[in-house]
Amino acid sequence: MKGVLLHGGFGTRLRPLTHTGPKQLIRVAGKPVSQWALEDLRDSGVRDIAIILGELGPDKVIDFYGDGSWLGMKLTYIYQGYPYGLAHAIYIAKEFIGDEPFVVYLGDNILIDGISEFVKKFIDSDADAMVLLTKVPDPRKFGVAEFDESGKLKRLVEKPKKPPSNYALVGVYFFKPPHIFRAIETLKPSWRKELEITDAIQKLINWGLKVDYSIVKGWWKDTGEVEDLLEANRILLDHKYKTQIIKGEIRGNARVEGRVFIDEGATVENNSIVRGPTYIGKNTVIGPKTYIGPYTSIGNNCKLTNVEIENSIILDNVIIEGISNRMTDSIIGSNTTIIRKHGVPRGYRFIVGEISKITINE
Ligand code: TTP
Repeated sequence: MKGVLLHGGFGTRLRPLTHTGPKQLIRVAGKPVSQWALEDLRDSGVRDIAIILGELGPDKVIDFYGDGSWLGMKLTYIYQGYPYGLAHAIYIAKEFIGDEPFVVYLGDNILIDGISEFVKKFIDSDADAMVLLTKVPDPRKFGVAEFDESGKLKRLVEKPKKPPSNYALVGVYFFKPPHIFRAIETLKPSWRKELEITDAIQKLINWGLKVDYSIVKGWWKDTGEVEDLLEANRILLDHKYKTQIIKGEIRGNARVEGRVFIDEGATVENNSIVRGPTYIGKNTVIGPKTYIGPYTSIGNNCKLTNVEIENSIILDNVIIEGISNRMTDSIIGSNTTIIRKHGVPRGYRFIVGEISKITINE
């Protein structure tokens, strides 16, 4: 089975983090979101994968993943550019797929229990396509499934005002060529000017082909918005880091409590506490006089001094110094500096990019 990982899109809802690169490369719990997806594919036995690149930082994706051999997989890159829709992104992988069954994985989706059972099920089945569904309390912002009396999939509706069920489409799809490509060829752009994958699958159903579904019971997230990234960070830290691992150094009277991962070259300096589950990247310096609370991921080459941070994601090369209030629920993009200066008139000084968000909780 081959794989197609979607790494395009505009990521508008995650601006300003996506001004400089694709959202799928944002690191949560120590790895880019799309690496969690790629490793899930690999661990399910899918190792020949095409990555679909968009307009946002395609070179960054190629630089990071290379030929994939370091992950134990073979990667091919296909440039989509403008995001004409999921069905368009799949169609441009037609040559790569040839006549093998394949799985499409949206590069911003995370399934905590992975997809291996579904890969096996699809390989063993005679279905032409299979979608994954999960029960959600409010399905209105998802693709939603409608079933017939016998429980067969009858219709898929994109973001319905009146959802026909509570079963939302998860961002992983299985297909056997060539029908899906034929279906995409007949599509017209939707109201949002995209070629919709739900419309293509609906064609397969209408043509009487066998479209199966499986239910995802474990935690699943489409990390399209800030709160989703913070939640994914919490869940991944909880599930993927089961013990304390310290490759760096703990200095003086610093304390490290619980499931903390500290990578090579990182140090925790005097009078500091790091409480897990927490991830600290390579060559990062924590402290002195710093508290890193649970559910925080810190990138590489950061320097955090005299601060308290909790439930947050700090990306690479960030400097934070002397902030008197605890920082919580924050995402700080790479190469950012936040410092407190003494000996100057009191006040806030901000130099922030477009579409930034600053909340001062009093
Ligand atoms: P979306 O989250 O629907 O789109 P987006 O990334 O443009 O985000 P926003 O709505 O905030 O602007 O896309 C789902 C996934 O599919 C995501 O990983 C990006 C990817 N994608 C493509 O690769 N090509 C496309 O044409 C589209 C629409 C999405």
